Amino acid sequence: NEGALWGGRFSGGPADALAALSKSTDFDWRLARYDIAGSKAHARVLHTAALLNDEELEGMLQALEQLDADVVSGAYVASESDEDVHGSLERGLIERAGTQLGGKLRAGRSRNDQIATLGRMFLRDHARLIARGVIATVDALVQQAKAHPDAPMPGRTHLQHAQPILLSHHLLAHAWALLRDVQRLADWDARAAVSPYGSGALAGNTLGLDPNAVAAELGFDSAVWNSIDGTASRDVFAEFGWVCAMIGVDLSRISEEIIFWATKEVGFVKLHDSYSTGSSIMPQKKNPDVAELTRGKSGRLIGDLAGLLATLKGLPLAYNRDLQEDKEPVFDAADTLELLLPAVSGQIATLTFNTARMAELAPLGFALATDIAEWLVKQGVPFRVAHELSGEAVALAESRGVELWDLTDEDYAGISPELTPALRSVLSTEGSLNARAGQGGTAPSAVAAQLDALTQQLDAV
Ligand code: ARG
Repeated sequence: NEGALWGGRFSGGPADALAALSKSTDFDWRLARYDIAGSKAHARVLHTAALLNDEELEGMLQALEQLDADVVSGAYVASESDEDVHGSLERGLIERAGTQLGGKLRAGRSRNDQIATLGRMFLRDHARLIARGVIATVDALVQQAKAHPDAPMPGRTHLQHAQPILLSHHLLAHAWALLRDVQRLADWDARAAVSPYGSGALAGNTLGLDPNAVAAELGFDSAVWNSIDGTASRDVFAEFGWVCAMIGVDLSRISEEIIFWATKEVGFVKLHDSYSTGSSIMPQKKNPDVAELTRGKSGRLIGDLAGLLATLKGLPLAYNRDLQEDKEPVFDAADTLELLLPAVSGQIATLTFNTARMAELAPLGFALATDIAEWLVKQGVPFRVAHELSGEAVALAESRGVELWDLTDEDYAGISPELTPALRSVLSTEGSLNARAGQGGTAPSAVAAQLDALTQQLDAV
């Protein structure tokens, strides 16, 4: 059982099957540099507590620096017999500092408070990377909105034509959702910025070590107030997983639209060659693989979250080994988004919109019927009556196979004397759009103001 972190009360080493089951270096090795940073901070509080003298601290820090350099260069890697990253790095430290000095570092800490801390360090760094990727996606949407400030398109509910909207308004709707995701990552960080180091196995330590000194050195705002909470809770991990899943879902909704827009039937967008793929058999094909993979991987992100929550459910306090299963889901969520986001932002930035076709379809399907009703309301007609009258106009146009603006002044007067020729001011896409100039509306002026507000919030995160 040489090299194991325990042994005193055992008569032999673990069975091969247990060792294989227990081993986590395949996935926790990516925490190695965080582990070493934690060890340096821990060495300093041991020194402050007079448990290491000046010379010992110096030797310990040097050995840890060397170990860090060897981990970075690949000169030091986990061995077959190492159970986890913590045990392996203790072996590496002892190889560099000797058993006498290296053996002193473990005092007052446990792998339980270590792993909870390292996980938060890893996730905080990756939350920043992910936020950058989401911001790049928001930027791509904003650039497309700016490039098409006045282009109309059909607005849909239930996927049916509903009312004309601006393409820029539609694109910015996706941008707002993603902006909130960036804000969520920033809000989450306030809860992740609390260090569990110093909690020990579950009850704290007897050695007078200062958890806040370790926390500060590792970039945390503070240390936990409850050592059981520090070692046993993983809600911060689950919340990270939730935000990642939400980002996946938000990206998936954009993707679904791009896939739809790129169909022959809709024909609203052309994908750039560099963000689409061909078919091995059908020479004409141009496929929206980025959007499809994004839609597919959103399922994977939901799975990561669901798996993690299932691991946590039913765990008694404090640490249980089940918690070793907390890492792969959040690592996978981070890896997945870091892979996806550059492709999604690149795909959006390079879309070519067929604005002529979108404008042509925008008012079709009687999409101006609400405008007739609301115009009547402005003339003093109660909305219930106005809705009926506009519906009659739709029925008449539909029976003749024409659009609302094809009906004559006499047709309208026949439905109601209130439907005077002045109605025609709203019987166009432009009229319909311009009429919605209040905050949040789709009029060009309102969308310009919206863009300013969004840019301000984006600059603030
Ligand atoms: N490798 C473990 C984990 O990832 C940390 C070690 C805690 N093990 C223990 N027996 N207390 O959670």
